[in-house]
Amino acid sequence: MGKLGDCWDECCYKWDEWKYCLACLGIAAGAALLAALLAAFGFVRHVSVSVDEASLARFELNASSPVTSLAYNLSLTLVVRNPNWAMALRNTKPLEAALKFDDQAFDRFELAGKGDRHPPGKTRVYHLAAGAAARFAALGNAGEAEFRRENATGTFEVEVAVAGEVRYTARYTKCKVEASCPLRLQLAPRAAAAVVFQRVKCKLAKPEKNC
Ligand SMILES: *[C@@H]1O[C@H](CO)[C@@H](O)[C@H](O)[C@H]1NC(C)=O
Ligand SMILES: *[C@@H]1O[C@H](CO)[C@@H](O)[C@H](O)[C@H]1NC(C)=O
Ligand SMILES: *[C@@H]1O[C@H](CO)[C@@H](O)[C@H](O)[C@H]1NC(C)=O
Repeated sequence: MGKLGDCWDECCYKWDEWKYCLACLGIAAGAALLAALLAAFGFVRHVSVSVDEASLARFELNASSPVTSLAYNLSLTLVVRNPNWAMALRNTKPLEAALKFDDQAFDRFELAGKGDRHPPGKTRVYHLAAGAAARFAALGNAGEAEFRRENATGTFEVEVAVAGEVRYTARYTKCKVEASCPLRLQLAPRAAAAVVFQRVKCKLAKPEKNC
C-alpha cells in the first residue's frame, strides 16, 4: 500500500499528467481485483460433516450358516456444510454413506448423485431411514464376538463412512471426500422414550495434494 501511495502522490501531483494518474488507478484496481479473486478462489476450505441425530431401533445378528447377516433399523441425520463463500462443489462421483460394524460395511446409501452441485456457504441435510431384515456382513469370528460383547451392553458402535469425490469451482483437481463418523448408539425399542443423541463431528481424511 505504501508503494501505491507514493505512486499516487507522484502521478497526481500535476493534473496534466493524468495519463499516469489513470495508469495508477488501473494498477490499483487490478491489484484489488487480484486480491478479491485470490480470497474467493485461491484457497479451498474443505467440507465439514456431522451426524446431528441418530437412533437405532433394531440391531440383531443372525450368525447361522452359510452367511452372517444383520437385521437393523437405523435413522440418522447427516449434515454436510460447504464453508467456502465463493466456491461451489460439484460431485464427480456420487456421495455415499456406508454403515459399518466392526469395520465391516453392512449397508450403503447414495446421498447425492454424480453432477450434483453444492452451492457456496450452504448446508445440506440428509435424512436416512434405513433398515433391513438381513444384510450380509463379513464379520467373521472376531466380529461376531464383538457383536456379542456390545449386545450385552445394549449400546452398539456403528460407523457412518461418507465417501465421495468433488471438484471445486475454478479448480482442475478432483478431491476425495472421506469422513468417518463413529457413533455409539443405544438400542431404543419403539415404545421406549427417545434416547438423547449427542452430535458427532465426523473426522475427515487428510486432503490429497492440490486439494
Ligand atoms: C437367519 O438366516 C437364515 C439363513 O441364512 C434364515 O433361514 C433364518 O430364518 C434367519 N433367522 C432369523 C431369526 O432371521
Ligand atoms: C424402522 O422402524 C420404524 C419405526 O421405528 C418403522 O416405521 C419402519 O418401518 C422400520 N423400517 C424397517 C425397514 O424396518
Ligand atoms: C442380544 O441380546 C438379546 C437380549 O438382550 C438376546 O436375546 C440375543 O440373543 C443376543 N444376541 C446375540 C447374537 O448374542
